[in-house]
Amino acid sequence: MYCIKKITNDLTWVGANDRRLAMFEGVYSVPDGVSYNSYLLSDEKTVLFDTVDKAVQHLFLDNLTEALDGRPLDYLVVQHMEPDHSAAVTELAIRYPQMKIVCNAKTLALLNQFFDFGADSRAYIVKEGDTLNTGSHTLHFIMAPMVHWPEVMVTYDSTDKILFSADAFGSFGALNGAMFADEVDFAKDYLDEARRYYTNIVGKYGTQVQALLKKASAVPINMICPLHGFVWRKNIQDFVAKYALWSRYEPEEYGVMIAYASVYGNTGIAAEILSSQLRDKGIKTVMFDVSVTPASEIVSAAFKWSHLVFASTTYNAGIFVTMEALINDLVSHNIQNRTVALVENGSWAGTSGGLIREKLEKCKNIKILDDTLRIKSSLKASQLPEVTAMADALIATMPGKPLDSPSVPQEHLVDTKTMFKLSYGLFVLTAKEGDKDNGCIINTVSQVTDSPLRVSITVSKANYTHDMIVKTGEFNVSILTEGVPFSLFEQFGFQSGANTNKFSEDGDGVRSANGIRYVLEHTNGVISGRVVASHDCGTHTLFVADVVQVFSVSNEPSVTYRYYFDHIKPKPALPQGEKASGFVCTICGYVFEGDVLPDDYICPLCKHGAADFVKM
Ligand code: FEO
Repeated sequence: MYCIKKITNDLTWVGANDRRLAMFEGVYSVPDGVSYNSYLLSDEKTVLFDTVDKAVQHLFLDNLTEALDGRPLDYLVVQHMEPDHSAAVTELAIRYPQMKIVCNAKTLALLNQFFDFGADSRAYIVKEGDTLNTGSHTLHFIMAPMVHWPEVMVTYDSTDKILFSADAFGSFGALNGAMFADEVDFAKDYLDEARRYYTNIVGKYGTQVQALLKKASAVPINMICPLHGFVWRKNIQDFVAKYALWSRYEPEEYGVMIAYASVYGNTGIAAEILSSQLRDKGIKTVMFDVSVTPASEIVSAAFKWSHLVFASTTYNAGIFVTMEALINDLVSHNIQNRTVALVENGSWAGTSGGLIREKLEKCKNIKILDDTLRIKSSLKASQLPEVTAMADALIATMPGKPLDSPSVPQEHLVDTKTMFKLSYGLFVLTAKEGDKDNGCIINTVSQVTDSPLRVSITVSKANYTHDMIVKTGEFNVSILTEGVPFSLFEQFGFQSGANTNKFSEDGDGVRSANGIRYVLEHTNGVISGRVVASHDCGTHTLFVADVVQVFSVSNEPSVTYRYYFDHIKPKPALPQGEKASGFVCTICGYVFEGDVLPDDYICPLCKHGAADFVKM
């Protein structure tokens, strides 16, 4: 029996999943299994891209037979010779005598090393830039040496704009019925395994991955078909962006990964205290006991987080065995661009800290804090200030450190009103959830990149529109003009969409292609965004979005925040003869009556905080 999947009209997945494999490559646990992807292109010629591992060869052959539907196999493109993708080559050579093997010279040498079926007579040798026309498709061959072996090449189908990417963009984890990454919650359920796959399999070869990304960026790509894991047809740039970060050895998040090796728990408790103190100061932390967690998970985490702490007992006059294996693994995977702190425990002759330092100093751009926390058998209360000092030293090197951290010099925040000098515009942000339309006023829309075209918006969590965007991932931005009346700010800014319909009935027909309303009057342009990333900023969420539609409405100048203050916002009016008392919101004019404005006060109209109020 067979189990195949249509990828496009003439492309079919004929791969197979393995959920019995315990250790991929004999090293990496795969608790969720692994897929071996193989794709059949049915054009005037039939072309198969790679085969599978021997463990699933039987199912693969049934799949291929079904997908060929009685046709012969004309070409087998061998992009990667590693046996998890080439195990069935000999069997195909027996079954399809006319089959040509499309490969490069290095691949042919490896074919002859691994197999004895006589690959030379079937070889159709290609090199960088060569093409193969198969009828309506043209295949372009692109060399990608060391992603992951030296012979690796990828193939670009310029007809359907599909990149067959070999090991690149792969992931651990079997395919459980879904073929495309957009059919699952990839970021939540699969990204960690994709990172573990990348870092452990090709993490060492960042330069070579960068070279491949550069080549791939020169062509339009509608779909990526890797040899493991999901096919990508939506939000491709998100995954490419992860590869760009990983291959440059740049962290994904600011935070501290703490890995500890502890025989009797004393080194472990020091790590716990450090983690606890960091958390108290608002820093994200993750912790691993290196004797329990497989190294591949810790290597993956080390690629994710900006700061690394290694806490190890001394053992056999050296580094504890599991910690030493981890450090060696990180060094051989080329870990770079991190800040590191060390904790050493030694009851009579501590050496682990110094030895870890020696190993990590060989890596590029690793900053190791000068002060190692040294423990003799167990941490003493008198050493707690040293733990605090280490936490503060780590935080001090984080550009994203929280503003309320004790290490932030509050005296530098002299005049926060200076922020008003930033040249903000004003916008109506709209969203739609089911039948519900809603909108609010924001002043935080910026273009992020132009290729892909992306914008960022920052939205208060107090706004109902915020929650709608979190749920739907889509929004419109209407760019307001200088002619906008104050009443529009009242309409969209001074009431909650949770219990009001902010749109007048006559605005019914004004919707963009995403079905979301936009404001037509007093607007000079509209941007439709689809969220690709978000960042929790405490009171607000920063959304980054692909621009999926953008059009001009008029040539009226855009209103700026300054223009709004000077020409649109009515000055707060007090009853004649009455002495001013209280605080006025400089954003919308709301008056808070009272002598003391609470620090955490939020304007009930425009949702701005106490910092935007001035004493009357
Ligand atoms: Fe999935 Fe490098 O082989």
